[in-house]
Amino acid sequence: MKGIFGVQIFNLDEVDSTNNFAAKLISDQLCQNGAVIMSDYQTLGKGQRGNHWISNKRENIMMSVVYQPDNMSVSEQITLTWGTSLAIVELLAEFGISAQVKWPNDIYVNRKKISGVLIENQLMGQRVSFSIIGIGLNVNQLEFSFTNATSIALEKNKIQIIEEVRNTLLAKMNDLLFKDFIFLKQKYESLLFLKDLESEFEDEQGVFKGKIKGVTDEGLLIIWKE
Ligand code: BTN
Repeated sequence: MKGIFGVQIFNLDEVDSTNNFAAKLISDQLCQNGAVIMSDYQTLGKGQRGNHWISNKRENIMMSVVYQPDNMSVSEQITLTWGTSLAIVELLAEFGISAQVKWPNDIYVNRKKISGVLIENQLMGQRVSFSIIGIGLNVNQLEFSFTNATSIALEKNKIQIIEEVRNTLLAKMNDLLFKDFIFLKQKYESLLFLKDLESEFEDEQGVFKGKIKGVTDEGLLIIWKE
């Protein structure tokens, strides 16, 4: 493995959340920079906005990556979201799947969610001291209780070897998380789901029509109202 991500791997049978496990390893100083925590199952998988992440046992990737950046300012932390989303899109491309990013960091294939990312950063003053990059990626699950989900196996009609998918993903992260701000922002914008297409959105004022045009340097979505 070239790069820090994946040099140290913890393989667990079951855990509450790999992100929580990673946080504990960091506070107990028991892991290296770039450590990866994988679990066959999570009893309390965390999603964005306080949601749960539910995933069948041994069928998918439930993984957290510990990253201690050299010198990353708080305003640069958005590059972690961009780099991780791009790594997943590029990994899927290697498997012949064309994916897009539904803002901020859901990965979609043909209007179905295949992967979600939960990044939890620890800050020290104006710097990012640790980042826990949590990734849920549907690999071999064939049935979902909700309709708008898919997996690599469903898209390709073929069960995959989880370790192979994981290694390809880590290789992509080892490359993309070290790219510069402008590169990542442009690439991320080019992969935004529904970009330039008239769509319906909702804000505090209600439902409106508009087009996604890109993101700000802070990572906020830019929508032009019709
Ligand atoms: C989302 O789409 O809401 C984000 C889902 C993130 C799920 C992953 S699975 C591995 C890691 N551990 C967690 O508890 N959550 C993330």
